[in-house]
Amino acid sequence: MASVLCECLRSLIQKDIQDLLIPLFINVLFLLYSSRAINVDQSPNSDECEFVECLRNHSVPPNLYFTPQSHFFNHFFFSSVRNRRPLLNSSKPILIFLPTSENHVQAAVLCSRSLDIPTRTRSGGHDYEGLSYASTSGPFVLIDLQFLSSIKIDMHSGTAWVHAGAIIGELYYAIANHSRTVAFPAGLGPTVGVGGHLSGGGLGTLMRSFGLSSDNVEDIRIGLASGEIKDRGTIGEELFWALRGGGGASFGVIVAYKVRLVAVPSKVTVFTISKNLEGGATKLVDKWQRMAYKVDKRLFIRAVFTVVGNDSESSDGNKTNRTVQVSFKSLFLGEKNELLPIIEDCFPELELKAEDCTEMGSSTLQICGVEEWMRSLKSSSLSSSERNLFSCPLFDAEVVGRRRCNERHVDWLRRFYKFMTPYVSKNPRAAYLNYRDLDIGTNVKGNKTNYWEARVWGERYYKGNFKRLAYAKGEVDPTNMFMNEQSVNE
Ligand SMILES: Cc1cc2nc3c(=O)[nH]c(=O)nc-3n(C[C@H](O)[C@H](O)[C@H](O)COP(=O)(O)OP(=O)(O)OC[C@H]3O[C@@H](n4cnc5c(N)ncnc54)[C@H](O)[C@@H]3O)c2cc1C
Ligand SMILES: *[C@@H]1O[C@H](CO)[C@@H](O)[C@H](O)[C@H]1NC(C)=O
Ligand SMILES: *[C@@H]1O[C@H](CO)[C@@H](O)[C@H](O)[C@H]1NC(C)=O
Ligand SMILES: *[C@@H]1O[C@H](CO)[C@@H](O)[C@H](O)[C@H]1NC(C)=O
Ligand SMILES: *[C@@H]1O[C@H](CO)[C@@H](O)[C@H](O)[C@H]1NC(C)=O
Ligand SMILES: *[C@@H]1O[C@H](CO)[C@@H](O)[C@H](O)[C@H]1NC(C)=O
Ligand SMILES: *[C@@H]1O[C@H](CO)[C@@H](O)[C@H](O)[C@H]1NC(C)=O
Repeated sequence: MASVLCECLRSLIQKDIQDLLIPLFINVLFLLYSSRAINVDQSPNSDECEFVECLRNHSVPPNLYFTPQSHFFNHFFFSSVRNRRPLLNSSKPILIFLPTSENHVQAAVLCSRSLDIPTRTRSGGHDYEGLSYASTSGPFVLIDLQFLSSIKIDMHSGTAWVHAGAIIGELYYAIANHSRTVAFPAGLGPTVGVGGHLSGGGLGTLMRSFGLSSDNVEDIRIGLASGEIKDRGTIGEELFWALRGGGGASFGVIVAYKVRLVAVPSKVTVFTISKNLEGGATKLVDKWQRMAYKVDKRLFIRAVFTVVGNDSESSDGNKTNRTVQVSFKSLFLGEKNELLPIIEDCFPELELKAEDCTEMGSSTLQICGVEEWMRSLKSSSLSSSERNLFSCPLFDAEVVGRRRCNERHVDWLRRFYKFMTPYVSKNPRAAYLNYRDLDIGTNVKGNKTNYWEARVWGERYYKGNFKRLAYAKGEVDPTNMFMNEQSVNE
């Protein structure tokens, strides 16, 4: 053992020298992060050494994995930590591995299995509870897919193969680069990762016409506990079903998705109308709740609530009263002159006028802001702290702020969650997997939680389907290699 450890230490030291020679995304961020070291035991332990040796045995290039001793560990670790709150209670990974091919993913799974060291898979890192990079159950290896992100579009069949480590903004951009009249239904935030998003649902502006992201997945390539990489034809329809809404993390490491592109008109119309409480927002929200889900399917309207103004006098002596503002933000798959009569009919209270509407190409809309974001990313001028969007755990509302959530915010959210109880779904009170919430229940630390215990919270995400997911899990991962605080149990 001692000699293995020595050999490992030596290789780690050598590797750091190699790190410096390999210009793998070395940029200013490195400087930012080196001053922000996280507290980890600075000497390599046997788990990480064995994992490193195992990856090396599988011919994985040494510039793709980093131990906490590496200068680059923090850089890659924090590169897609979107929320630091889960780190308060988590151990750091013993190794970060950045696969660039399917073979690498396979190697990671085989090493995890043979060494009995658990893994976490991270694509975009947007999980609200950080389950992709934080763990309350001891040492783990982080498989970060950010370098497995290529996108191949086939306009002929109207499909695309997209690697799990891409973000949805990159997918929108790639699609727009090919055609102005196709799109993919997915979320609003361009930095959301394909890997988590498509396996957990995927709500967005196109969902009324085309469903969720997972409804538009046609094939999946996934690394399984067995060490094999399989696709839809070989995993069978049950697992394929489970991976479209059940979340990927319980079943394996999803490498890529084949998605169906949807046809959209070349011109779409958007508007935003904002009203505050004094301007009658309450009545509008009431009406919106009762009509928005049943109007013409081409029309999507969301309501965004913010607090505006404050009661202090500004420098010019004007007082802005603190109030709640509701913005109705809409996308209509059609032209302005078609939209106006529809709104007049279903939501006249909004008093929408032609000049409130903007017509644009649908692709322009989907990539709004993405182009600039990609440019800044390429020039490396975007610091990771700007990329980080800190978010509170989500209940029924989405609360995303730019600063660290502290206990006060979490406490507020818990009270808000309770306050909403009479107005939302009951028995069970439903939850959306992609808006992860550990408050509804977790697997028990150190114990193999069984299906019956997990049912309490599992049915909130999956209702009657939880049982079916548990069977699918049992078939594909009988030893529960892929587990986390809220993974599906056999
Ligand atoms: C700013 C912001 C905006 C958002 N907007 C929307 C929205 O408009 N619509 C919506 O529906 N949701 C939205 N979400 C929620 C988002 O869909 C989920 O957080 C989603 O799970 C994120 O996926 P990810 O790959 O970025 O996250 P990650 O944190 O990387 O992963 C989330 C979960 O999936 C697992 N996972 C990730 N990749 C893989 C893989 N390749 N194989 C197996 N398991 C994997 C992880 O282990 C983890 O359990 C938003 C979140 C944020 C923070
Ligand atoms: C790596 O390969 C060597 C030689 O085949 C073997 O002895 C060793 O156990 C392997 N190590 C791991 C961690 O798999
Ligand atoms: C950390 O975990 C413990 C037990 O698992 C829990 O009681 C505590 O509230 C957690 N702390 C934070 C900051 O999440
Ligand atoms: C957009 O398409 C052009 C021409 O087909 C290609 O050269 C370019 O690389 C594409 N850009 C992106 C970001 O895919
Ligand atoms: C009050 O509101 C004004 C205008 O929105 C803003 O400029 C100012 O910073 C706010 N002051 C405080 C204390 O929040
Ligand atoms: C703020 O509230 C006061 C008292 O209700 C009212 O007189 C005043 O017009 C309001 N100011 C603005 C800018 O709405
Ligand atoms: C684990 O399960 C056993 C048997 O069901 C139980 O006695 C024990 O208290 C559990 N441990 C924890 C940490 O919950």
